[in-house]
This record gives sequence, structure tokens and C-alpha cells, in this order.
Amino acid sequence: MNNKNYLIIGGTGGIGQAIVKELLQRIANEQSDENIGNARVYATYHKSQPDFAADNLYWLPMDVSDEDSIEQAIADIKQQTSHIDWVINCVGLLHTAHNQPEKALRQLETDFFLQSMQINALASLLIAKHIRPLLAKAERDADQPAIFATISARVGSITDNHLGGWYSYRMSKAALNMGMRNLSIEWSRSLKDVCVVVMQPGTVDTQLSSPFQSNVADEKLFSPAYSAKRLLEVLDSMSAAQSGSFVDWAGESIAW
Ligand SMILES: NC(=O)c1ccc[n+]([C@@H]2O[C@H](COP(=O)([O-])OP(=O)(O)OC[C@H]3O[C@@H](n4cnc5c(N)ncnc54)[C@H](OP(=O)(O)O)[C@@H]3O)[C@@H](O)[C@H]2O)c1
Repeated sequence: MNNKNYLIIGGTGGIGQAIVKELLQRIANEQSDENIGNARVYATYHKSQPDFAADNLYWLPMDVSDEDSIEQAIADIKQQTSHIDWVINCVGLLHTAHNQPEKALRQLETDFFLQSMQINALASLLIAKHIRPLLAKAERDADQPAIFATISARVGSITDNHLGGWYSYRMSKAALNMGMRNLSIEWSRSLKDVCVVVMQPGTVDTQLSSPFQSNVADEKLFSPAYSAKRLLEVLDSMSAAQSGSFVDWAGESIAW
């Protein structure tokens, strides 16, 4: 029986929404097996609440660049439940209406760099800071840990960087990875059996990647639904001992 509570940050994005839908499908399948549980999916939106609804889906507003907004959304969840079992942060920023990823240093702009750091790196730490009491109440053990996952990116790997460019995105994802590795060490001491993980989702057909898909072979461009399924399968298999991992959609480790 699935009594898990899931929190998907960025539930309206390409990958985030696919994860929300896949989780709801899993819950519905379990219920049709008459194994009825109380699983819930809490999902956050940023600019506007989608009209997509389901019985066990609860939408909350959250701007991850504003700590008060993170705190408020989590306070609202606390009114509804005592525990969150899985958190998956699917928010990310690669380009805006005004800024494309830098091809060269001369294109670097302070505001865009700091915005990337705030959304891609700092947000997961702030979410972790505020969600901790709800994760602490999750029923869990070393084999079936609570999950604190963030979608990172392979381009955040320093070892894997052979192409250069994309200063703001690469640096913010590398900073995210360091933050989550740090958190995994802190929580291995003070919040047992929570698996902290950063993940590469593949190259996925979303608005984030759409300007950069021309060199990607068709079979290497994943649908959001496929990526979501694979990412959730990887998370299903995670043990507490794997906290602090950087893995791809197939569960393969990525060098830092
Ligand atoms: N797609 C790929 O090929 C690929 C590859 C590697 C890694 N990733 C990573 O995967 C994650 C998901 O990306 P995606 O492809 O699904 O992109 P996406 O469709 O652009 O989704 C990004 C989400 O982030 C939200 N967001 C942006 N700023 C926010 C803020 N300040 N507060 C709250 N939410 C905010 C957006 O909401 P609004 O639109 O409402 O602002 C949107 O829901 C990102 O971390 C990305 O870096 C993607």
C-alpha cells in the first residue's frame, strides 16, 4: 500500500509535469488493484496554476527565488499533512527572454549569472532547510529511504566539461551538486535514511532544451514522459547508502 506523500517543485515544467502525471498514474494503478492507500502528490507552480487536476493532487504557489515563498508553501503543506516522503525539485533555468547561455565570456552578465545561481543552486538548499521537519516524519529505513532529489545536469560535471561555454548554467549546476553533496553528509549524521541525490534527466524535449535540440539525434531526445519514468525508477531503487550520488536517468554514476 502506498501512503507516500510526494512534493514536486516545478510541477508545471516539462519534466516536472511528467513526473506529477507518472506519480498520479502509479497511485491510480495501485488503487485499481484494490490496494487503496492515501498517497498524495503536492506540486508547486510558479507563474500560473495549471488547470490540470486530480483527486490526490494539491497545487501550491512557490517562487524558488524567494525564501518567504518557499517557507509559505511548506507551511501550507504542514496544515495538510505531518510528513513528506519524497521531494523532487524540477525547477531550472537555462535561458530567459533576455539571456541565452553564454558562448563566450564577453556575453557574461552579472544579473543573469546571479539569477542562475539563485534558481539552480541556492533554491534546493532553501527547500531542504524548510522541508526538513516534514522529511524527518517520513516512515523510512536504510533500504527504503526518504528522497530529496534535484534535477541537475551533466554539464554541471567539471570532469565531463570538454566543450566550455554556458558559464552561468554550468557553474550553477556545479554549485548545486556541491550543495547537495554537502547536505548528504550533514543529513547522514543528523537526519538518517534520507537519500539526497542529483540527477541528469537525459536530453528531454522541453522549452528549456528546445533552442538546442538541432544536434541531438532523434533517439537521444527523450519525451518528458520517458525521462520521468526512468528517473522515478532510479529513485525507487535508491538506498540510504547511495545518498550523495550524481546519477543519470539510467542510474549510472556521473563523475563530479
Ligand atoms: N530538458 C533537458 O534536456 C534537460 C537536460 C538536463 C537537465 N535539465 C534540468 O531539468 C530540470 C527541468 O527542466 P525542464 O526541461 O523540465 O525545463 P522547463 O520545462 O523549462 O521547466 C522549468 C520549470 O522551472 C520553473 N521555474 C523557473 N523559475 C522558477 C522560479 N523562480 N520559481 C519556481 N519555478 C520556477 C518553470 O516555471 P515557470 O515557467 O512558471 O517559471 C518551469 O516549471 C531543470 O533543472 C533543468 O536544468 C533539463
